[in-house]
Formats: sequence, structure tokens, C-alpha cells
Amino acid sequence: MKFDDQLFATAIASPNIALIKYWGNRDDVLNIPSNGSISITLANLVTKTTVVFSPEYSKDTLILDSIELSGQPAKRATTFLDEVRNMSGISFNARVTSENNFPMGTGIASSASAFAALALAATSAAGLQLNDKELSILARKGSGSACRSIFGGFVEWVAGNSDQTSYAKQLCASDHWELVDLVTIVDTTHKRVTSKVGHQSALTSPLQATRIADAPHRLDLCRNAILSKDFELLADIVELDCNMMHAVMITSNPPLLYWQPATINIIKEVKYLRSQGIPVCYTIDAGPNVHVIVEKPYKHDVLECLNSLDDVVEIISSKPGGGAKIINNGST
Ligand code: PMV
Repeated sequence: MKFDDQLFATAIASPNIALIKYWGNRDDVLNIPSNGSISITLANLVTKTTVVFSPEYSKDTLILDSIELSGQPAKRATTFLDEVRNMSGISFNARVTSENNFPMGTGIASSASAFAALALAATSAAGLQLNDKELSILARKGSGSACRSIFGGFVEWVAGNSDQTSYAKQLCASDHWELVDLVTIVDTTHKRVTSKVGHQSALTSPLQATRIADAPHRLDLCRNAILSKDFELLADIVELDCNMMHAVMITSNPPLLYWQPATINIIKEVKYLRSQGIPVCYTIDAGPNVHVIVEKPYKHDVLECLNSLDDVVEIISSKPGGGAKIINNGST
């Protein structure tokens, strides 16, 4: 057997935007979250990752958008690959080549699509055939939110309390509700404090315990809003949940303030548009850029308003999309 010809696979996965946020872990090593979360997997935005295991490699190599990574990001990938090597019994080093069709550091969670694609490509290259639940558990260990990107459409990550009970599942397929995420970029510089570090400081906020205690209620409301396609209910709970996460961030030690003046201008514009009857709401991850969620028929009206605001650099539009999938492997 010629290993180079056999032990490889290419997978694609998309980022997701959380409607109910994951912020803080009960286990920082396994990424067992303090609360459950709900997200939409985003179409068109794609990470494509190829993994090759070979006895000819003297170390793991990770190439992202044509640049070889070193330091902490490379170490994180090797730790993840070790997990796959343990599961499969393969001891070879790997060469991982990954590319995104969207810019990193733009408020689009590239670690989610990165670890979802890596989980699928690496296990497939190693000859493992994991089901979606097993893949979700594995992807979670790379980056918590990656467990949701294994699935397409509307997705819930059930927090669980152990490695085997913490994984995502699909709530509804991508065509269930024609929503659009207008990712409104106001700053393209890479975020200074990563979410990995942020999760670790969440409990230093006196507000985090309240946020976690109320999470089951917010999850129920969000799930119901999605199932019944009730935009008003969705908007209220999505914005409340986002504000609660940022309140925790601002009151953590050290405080994390990701918003910029342009972030607040967009929030105000979205609130104004909704007061005028347009089904639109906002949510913001660990950065200054704003995800503006709108029902598809109103997309162009909202785009026009957002484009007229100061400091909007770019708007990337995405509808709900599919889950992670293999596009090529050693046996094809
Ligand atoms: O998966 P991580 O460690 O990148 O954390 C994601 C954190 C948020 O994007 C802010 C919220 C979420 O649920 O995606």
C-alpha cells in the first residue's frame, strides 16, 4: 500500500452564527459549555481542508491560506490530530492544508468551520467512519462552536455535562426559514482577545451566573421562535441573549469590550428599522462586527440602509447552509 495515495481526505464546512450564545465552559479542556446554544450554519462561506497522513512526514504541518502556521495555532491542531491518532491507532504525522473563501478576523467564526472540516477530513483520512454525533463531539474539542458546524440549517448544541453528552444536533433543515445573515464588517483587524481566553474569564463576571441560570428559558424561546417562524419572538430573544453575553464580557476581569462606535450605530439602525415593521434583528460575537438577521424579502431594503452608514467596510450576505461534508478521499 502506498500511504500517500491512501490516507488523505478533503472536507468542507461552513461557519455558524449563534442566536443563543456559548460563553464560558464548565470544562475548559474538553470545551463542555456552561450553557446550551443555538445557531444557523451559513451557506456560501466555506473552509476547505485536506489532511494527509504519511510515514514520510517528520512532524505535523499546518498550512492556512498558503501560510505555514507555527506556535499556538499549530500546537492546537497537533493536539487535535493526536485525538484522531488515538481513536484510529495511526501514528503518522499529518500535513493539513486549509483555505477559507472568506476573510479571517471579520467576526465570522473561522474556528468553527476550521475544526468541523478538520474533524471530518482527519477522521476520514485515518479510515474512521464517525456518525454526526461522534463528529460533533470530536469537533467540539477543537473549538466549542465547531460542534454546531457539523450540521446544516438551524442547530442546537445541548450543553451536557461530560464528553459524551455534549454535542450538537439539527433542529431544522436550511430551507425551513428564509433568513439572511448580513455580516456587517466595521473592522477587519484580527481580534486581540480570542474566544478561548474569553471563555476562561467569563466566570469572573458577577453577571455570568445569572446569564447561565436563565439560559434554558432563552433556549426554549429561541427554539419555539424558529419552529414557529415567529420573527418578533426571535428578534427579542436573540438581541437579549447577545446583550447578556456582552454584559458578561464588559464586566469580566479583565474587561472585554469588543464594540466600537460603528457597532452601536448599526444596533440603533436595526432597532429603528424594526420599529418601522421590518423583520430585522442584530447579534454580535467576540468582535465589533454585527450580524444583521433579516427575513429574505426585506434583505435589499436593509442592505441599502446599512450601506449608507459611516464606517461600514463590507457586508457579506449569507443564507442558512449545509453541514460538513467530504468532497474527496483516498478511496475515491
Ligand atoms: O467556539 P469558540 O471558542 O470560538 O467560541 C465562540 C463564542 C461566540 O462566537 C462568541 C459565541 C458562539 O456561541 O458562537
